[in-house]
Amino acid sequence: MSMKEGGAAAGPGHVAIIMDGNGRWAEERGMSRSAGHQKGAERVREIVKVAPDLGIRVLTLFAFSTENWRRPGYEVSVLMSLFRRYIVREVDALDQDEVEVRFLGDRSRLPRDLRRLMTVMEERTRGHTKLRLQIALSYGARAEIVHAVRHLAAEVEAGRRSAESIDEAAISAALYTGGVPDPDLVIRTSGEFRISNFLLWQAAYSEFAFVDECWPEFDVPALERVLASYGTRERRFGGLRASG
Ligand code: FPP
Repeated sequence: MSMKEGGAAAGPGHVAIIMDGNGRWAEERGMSRSAGHQKGAERVREIVKVAPDLGIRVLTLFAFSTENWRRPGYEVSVLMSLFRRYIVREVDALDQDEVEVRFLGDRSRLPRDLRRLMTVMEERTRGHTKLRLQIALSYGARAEIVHAVRHLAAEVEAGRRSAESIDEAAISAALYTGGVPDPDLVIRTSGEFRISNFLLWQAAYSEFAFVDECWPEFDVPALERVLASYGTRERRFGGLRASG
């Protein structure tokens, strides 16, 4: 699918979101952290639904990091169940809405049944062009770069390419996001100012928006406010201000 053209003229074609603050949102309300994650999953549904109408062609969501494996077993299993449920409940609607879903990350650590559901989701939605939804699951950007470099090194070892042929485009292509344009805008919710090992290579020239809302309260108007503020920024990619 071609994602270079189309979408709202001044809007970000690719939006990536670090969905942070589910636990805090719930704890502040005397609810369990699991309830916060559940509310977070509802927000995912809403945001995915409106994304194409807001000119978004690619939406990348950070759902579970390689570091999240260190959380208590109970919380990890709640999250895995939420991901299973999301796939089972949403696969028909996403297919109908012409959303292509891809998962980014190290699948080997995920439960086998979840991995199977992820494959079903990807196969069912392959080829759709209204929105590409990338869900980062068991994802870490450094691990992704290591994976890409090993792949390229193996190609050199096998005599299929030369070391000199490894350039920025070759590394980009070997990442989990290969073939997809870099994010224009990276949003992080819940008032934290960190990138937390998310899309380190791909976000080299991205704009960043850090918002105070926790993910469960990041609703459509909140997303629209961030997009409106993005529209007023001038991106220079290291060049000079356009004169005029
Ligand atoms: C961060 O909140 C959020 C997560 C670790 C999980 C993200 C998962 C969802 C939004 C649920 C469903 C997702 C999909 C794709 C269906 P936190 O627990 O780190 O919050 P805290 O920093 O307040 O503890």
